[in-house]
Amino acid sequence: MEYKTESLRQYDYMEQMKSWVEKKSKELGRALTCHCTTFGCQMNEKDSEKLLGILETMGYQEVDTEEADLLLFNTCTVRENANTKLYGHLGQVKKMKEKNPHMMIGLCGCMMQEPHVIEKIKESYRFVDIVFGTHNIFKLAELLKARVDSGSMIVDIWKDTDQIVEDLPSDRKFSFKCGVNIMYGCNNFCSYCIVPYVRGRERSRKPEDIIKEIRKVVSEGVKEVMLLGQNVNSYGKTLEEPMSFAELLREVEKIEGLERIRFMTPHPKDLSDELIEVMADSEKICSHMHLPMQSGSSRLLKLMNRHYTKEQYIALAKKIQERIPGVSFTSDIIVGFPGETEEDFEETLDVVRQVGFDSAYTYVYSRRTGTPAASMENQVEKDVIKKRFDRLLALLKETSAKNCKKKVGQVEKVLIEEENTHQEGMLTGRLENNLLVHFKGCPEQIGTMVDVKLTEEKGFYYIGEQVHG
Ligand code: SAH
Ligand code: SF4
Ligand code: F3S
Repeated sequence: MEYKTESLRQYDYMEQMKSWVEKKSKELGRALTCHCTTFGCQMNEKDSEKLLGILETMGYQEVDTEEADLLLFNTCTVRENANTKLYGHLGQVKKMKEKNPHMMIGLCGCMMQEPHVIEKIKESYRFVDIVFGTHNIFKLAELLKARVDSGSMIVDIWKDTDQIVEDLPSDRKFSFKCGVNIMYGCNNFCSYCIVPYVRGRERSRKPEDIIKEIRKVVSEGVKEVMLLGQNVNSYGKTLEEPMSFAELLREVEKIEGLERIRFMTPHPKDLSDELIEVMADSEKICSHMHLPMQSGSSRLLKLMNRHYTKEQYIALAKKIQERIPGVSFTSDIIVGFPGETEEDFEETLDVVRQVGFDSAYTYVYSRRTGTPAASMENQVEKDVIKKRFDRLLALLKETSAKNCKKKVGQVEKVLIEEENTHQEGMLTGRLENNLLVHFKGCPEQIGTMVDVKLTEEKGFYYIGEQVHG
């Protein structure tokens, strides 16, 4: 049969699988359940929502334990430990499957884009039912159908693609906020990073598709969107009608009912003045800049293939802080890149001090096979890295506490996200700057925006009181 779009072809597979799921449920006398465990970044979180959307369309019921009829693992391989975690976990899953033989196991995500991983799974993890990668998640129903029909393991990995399949179902984890892909892949090839190899080349979604998706989720109650891309600054360059990221933001800003816009991640090498201006003028874009620095040493930045120097990073940060007063500034920092000396590391500390980060994700350098940095000489010793890592954390604790103090006494708009699990009668909300505040309230308020006075700071979060009227 000819289909007008790939998504229609996939809906047909979902229908076919739906009959199969119904039949199975009748046999078992209960609904079929599914669960997806997600490792890694927001891209993977978003992909998992799409996978669960497909499974629900097929009639599976999502449960929040791994005791399910269909288990998916959406994997990450950015660092070695993400990898090790999965193998460890698969050992446990094997035992579960022995007890429950009709259980199906699927592996997908970034780790599956590595040929040595696929070999290992084919050899040592024969109980896995389907394996697919980052480029073909939209095919989940088709792959499950193939598994059910053939009775054997299905492995379908694409090396790369420029295909973007729109209009597939998605099952959002939160009713009030969600991620929205604006582009896929990465062309930057930072020398330590595996992402470009496992996520393929950069491709942007059409602005009209992005806007349509945001309008839809807003109509369903979403207040906050996070625009996702490995380097959002290069959004739109490959479109038939090129458009800058700043222009896209202007369009998203116009969407009525949308209250907050976040984005992740901009790259310091090509963050435009236009973007800073759009942020400064915007009512909706959160006053928060997550700008990965990786290292403060210009020598290492060059080896990392980051295309900026320490001085350029600081100048950019200061420009943003001046144009957007009070902007919250966060970063990603790697400790122990090959050849990192004490001097290099002190340059990193120096930037942390000068920029005064509100917080940062700190990573111990992890050697990823296939990346240029993996074969560099002078890999730094573990205990040296550990000591530097602790010094960096201590400094970040100081800069973040200093920033946190500044807001005490102020009234801030807060999006209420959940009940506070530690204290009954308390809610947790997120400020524009991404920090959390705990305050008294009732669960019915979850998903709404309220004004909260920040009465006390706790270094990296607040205690507050809701301000009425
Ligand atoms: N595209 C984004 C984020 C990519 S992954 C960016 O460029 O900022 C998120 C973070 O993981 C990176 O910013 C980097 O700090 C970290 N990371 C990537 N590869 C790593 C590696 N091999 N070892 C340690 N940290 C790494
Ligand atoms: Fe990795 Fe660099 Fe691409 Fe970020 S920009 S995903 S760190 S290669
Ligand atoms: Fe994200 Fe990990 Fe893949 S950080 S892009 S899930 S390798």
